[in-house]
Amino acid sequence: MGKTSCLALTSLLTFSFFMAEIHGSKQGQVLDMFQKSKYKVGSQIDRSDFNAQEVVVDNYDMVDSHNGLKEKDRIVKLPGQPHVKFSQYGGYVTIDKLAGRALYYYFVESQHSKEKMPLLLWLNGGPGCSSLAYGAMEELGPFRVNSDGKTLKNNRYSWNYAANVLFLESPAGVGFSYSNRSSDYDTSGDRKTSTDNYIFLVNWLERFPEYKKRDFYIAGESYAGHYVPQLAHTIVHNNKKANKTIINLKGIMIGNAVINDKTDNLGMNDYLASHAIISDQAAHDINTFCNFSSDATPIQCQRAIDEYNRDVSFIDIYNIYAPLCNNPNLTAFPKKSSIVIDPCSGAYTHAYLNRANVQEALHANVTKLKYDWESCSDILFSKWGDSPSTIIPLLHEFLNNGLRVWIFSGDTDGRVPVTSTKYSIKKMNLSTKTAWYPWFFNGEVGGYAEVYKGDLTFATVREAGHEVPSYQPGRALSLIMHFLKGTPLPTTKRQP
Ligand SMILES: *[C@@H]1O[C@H](CO)[C@@H](O)[C@H](O)[C@H]1NC(C)=O
Ligand SMILES: *[C@@H]1O[C@H](CO)[C@@H](O)[C@H](O)[C@H]1NC(C)=O
Ligand SMILES: *[C@@H]1O[C@H](CO)[C@@H](O)[C@H](O)[C@H]1NC(C)=O
Ligand SMILES: *[C@@H]1O[C@H](CO)[C@@H](O)[C@H](O)[C@H]1NC(C)=O
Ligand SMILES: *[C@@H]1O[C@H](CO)[C@@H](O)[C@H](O)[C@H]1NC(C)=O
Ligand SMILES: *[C@@H]1O[C@H](CO)[C@@H](O)[C@H](O)[C@H]1NC(C)=O
Repeated sequence: MGKTSCLALTSLLTFSFFMAEIHGSKQGQVLDMFQKSKYKVGSQIDRSDFNAQEVVVDNYDMVDSHNGLKEKDRIVKLPGQPHVKFSQYGGYVTIDKLAGRALYYYFVESQHSKEKMPLLLWLNGGPGCSSLAYGAMEELGPFRVNSDGKTLKNNRYSWNYAANVLFLESPAGVGFSYSNRSSDYDTSGDRKTSTDNYIFLVNWLERFPEYKKRDFYIAGESYAGHYVPQLAHTIVHNNKKANKTIINLKGIMIGNAVINDKTDNLGMNDYLASHAIISDQAAHDINTFCNFSSDATPIQCQRAIDEYNRDVSFIDIYNIYAPLCNNPNLTAFPKKSSIVIDPCSGAYTHAYLNRANVQEALHANVTKLKYDWESCSDILFSKWGDSPSTIIPLLHEFLNNGLRVWIFSGDTDGRVPVTSTKYSIKKMNLSTKTAWYPWFFNGEVGGYAEVYKGDLTFATVREAGHEVPSYQPGRALSLIMHFLKGTPLPTTKRQP
């Protein structure tokens, strides 16, 4: 508890520095601020275990007629988009008619064989960050925004080479998702998010009925380490209650994920010390002397935090070896760039998604919201109601129910680093099925993997930060392909 609270505060103290220094990593910054408020003295956030709410879809005025809505949602072409062969859709699904609450989705069908490919939902974290901003436009979607902020380029490692991919901005208040009842923004939390996401899915499948029986998977990163398991749990729970497969969930995958606060924070501290970013002394002192359950801060703790602040403030802690964005200004013409993410890409995405013609093409912002589209909403997390301190019980539940569970970790992320994930998995007390081994992609080590009994795969992705597909798009595509097929990551350089 002491360590947990301590690093939370550490992160807070660091935060103002980050804002000045770094662009484009807001997802992790929101997480920093959130974790701090979660553990501060007098926090109102409920940290008890997660329980699914029963959502009796049949008995409730909840499922609309979606006749014709799918075609209305078809995106003919996004402004500045290169030619593509797959179909795209975007639009709103109302999840609460009384309140006027609607979630925005963006859906890209597979590049080929869409009838056979599984359905994959991708969620980003925060809380309050947009899956359109990160997932779709900077990580695993079919396009990346150019530095001119108005044209797109193809991402040849897009995950729609492996699945039909659905991006959801959730909860209401994030991105284009909204509620006409503004008090909804004050009652957000993990439980409500998962129930809303569940209602969204049930309705979305009415709009796209050809996907109802399709194998369904959920993946996400960062604080989606909460959202993904919680939604999966809600699906499992409601399938059981209804005694039928309402949603055909087969597995989940989470990356650089918030799993278990204690081990997450301890792992962060150890990672920063072992990667020569903070001193061993600072790590030790933070562990030993910082205790924010009490108001008094011992001098040793204060000193360690001062050091920590200075050490991490001038690097991108979400990818400790990455360059920073020095000039977020748009350029008149697209800069030539590799598919590895440009550190300023957050600015390009922000410009693109705020363009009126883009919003029109996406069928977004149809009610003319009063504020700009932002990659992370800052109105939500300050009132977040609940956030369990651990989601490990849910992971156990999935293993017991035969769901596939993969946990991956970009090994240059310092915010929810690989050590955190290792400690959290260790806490699950699983026995090993396949011992630790290097896995290969394109003739190189893509990362390392270990498989546990009950079907849990842990895989690192070498040289990837917090947003794994941004930094290692090829390795990330290989990872998702193997996950979806349920095949082990390649153990040799040459693979069929
Ligand atoms: C933190 O301080 C409180 C109150 O002084 C104390 O009860 C608790 O044991 C301390 N925790 C740690 C980990 O030192
Ligand atoms: C929210 O209010 C606007 C303006 O009255 C309306 O057009 C829209 O349909 C409402 N949204 C929902 C989800 O009911
Ligand atoms: C659940 O469904 C199965 C097959 O449809 C049926 O055999 C079984 O009796 C049902 N169980 C309950 C509790 O309704
Ligand atoms: C970015 O644009 C602003 C406003 O046009 C300008 O003042 C600033 O110098 C530019 N920054 C860089 C690094 O070019
Ligand atoms: C929605 O549209 C209005 C009017 O064009 C614009 O001012 C606002 O920034 C947009 N908001 C979002 C969230 O897209
Ligand atoms: C972990 O597993 C071992 C051996 O199966 C068992 O003895 C121990 O009680 C378990 N610990 C927890 C915390 O589940």
